[in-house]
Amino acid sequence: MSKPNIYVSRQLPDYLLEPYRNDFNINMWPKDDEPVPRDVLLAEVKEADGLLSMLSDGVNEELFEQAPNLKVVANLAVGYDNINLEDAKKYDVAITNTPDVLTETTADLAFGLLMATGRRLVESMEYIREDKWQDWSPFLLAGKDIHHQTIGIVGMGRIGSAVARRAKGFNMPILYHNRSRNMEVEEELGAKYVSFEELLEKADYVVSLVPFSAETKEIFNADAFNKMKESAIFINAGRGQTVDEEALYEALVKKEISAAGLDVFKQEPIRKDHPLMTLDNVVCLPHIGSASVKTREEMIKLCFDNLKNHFDGKALLTEVK
Ligand code: DGY
Repeated sequence: MSKPNIYVSRQLPDYLLEPYRNDFNINMWPKDDEPVPRDVLLAEVKEADGLLSMLSDGVNEELFEQAPNLKVVANLAVGYDNINLEDAKKYDVAITNTPDVLTETTADLAFGLLMATGRRLVESMEYIREDKWQDWSPFLLAGKDIHHQTIGIVGMGRIGSAVARRAKGFNMPILYHNRSRNMEVEEELGAKYVSFEELLEKADYVVSLVPFSAETKEIFNADAFNKMKESAIFINAGRGQTVDEEALYEALVKKEISAAGLDVFKQEPIRKDHPLMTLDNVVCLPHIGSASVKTREEMIKLCFDNLKNHFDGKALLTEVK
């Protein structure tokens, strides 16, 4: 039997592909810093039995229509809002994602972003870079404490729980809101389940790890920012589409909240003249939640193992249904 054709929509290092070359014919977009153009992707999937996709690729009816042999898509992310699951079902294409392997790394980033925003780390670096540091003074770049401040985590799944464990180490009282109660974090960490409104009103750090769906679209809107404390810091390491960015900008400018740390945006990539980039009290990162070398290697391996299992007739390791 001939080997299945796999299309990989971004250049990945050869040492990660090598172990799978006996199993697959691998064809790949040859650039690692530029997404595959849509017309190229649509042409390439015509021959593909499997696709290894990025979160920036729209995987939907338009693509499935062009891909008569496509049986499985392995998405290199835990989030899969770039994939239309209904369309996948209609075209009988299995979908996988990369949970678990990125949990701790993404929690590290979310908590690091919280610390960087609260203690104004990026602004402080800029201060030296711009040669503004002439003297020490008591309130120079004074930020907000992290220890003993209340953290409110919206989205208490695997990554939310890992952020909560980090918060516990900083003696932060933990509030959370989620679709369902998470008894493990309540028992292990003393986290308290509260309504979304109560969390917004009481948290010093509001941390969102919410995936994007029709229900979570712009849940952080003017009303939500209005409910937060004036001293509150908003951190988003979930998905950008859960935030009304104009309302966030207004809330920051009008000092309705104190600062924001953002790893994700409504439309990625953002440019340097994006309104939120113009504010000193905002830390922006280019969606690097799971970006440690080791974790990215594990995510890529998991994608290939899912593809391999599919074509070996074995159960998928991390199927999205
Ligand atoms: C994911 O995997 O969904 C993350 O957003 C990538 O960092």
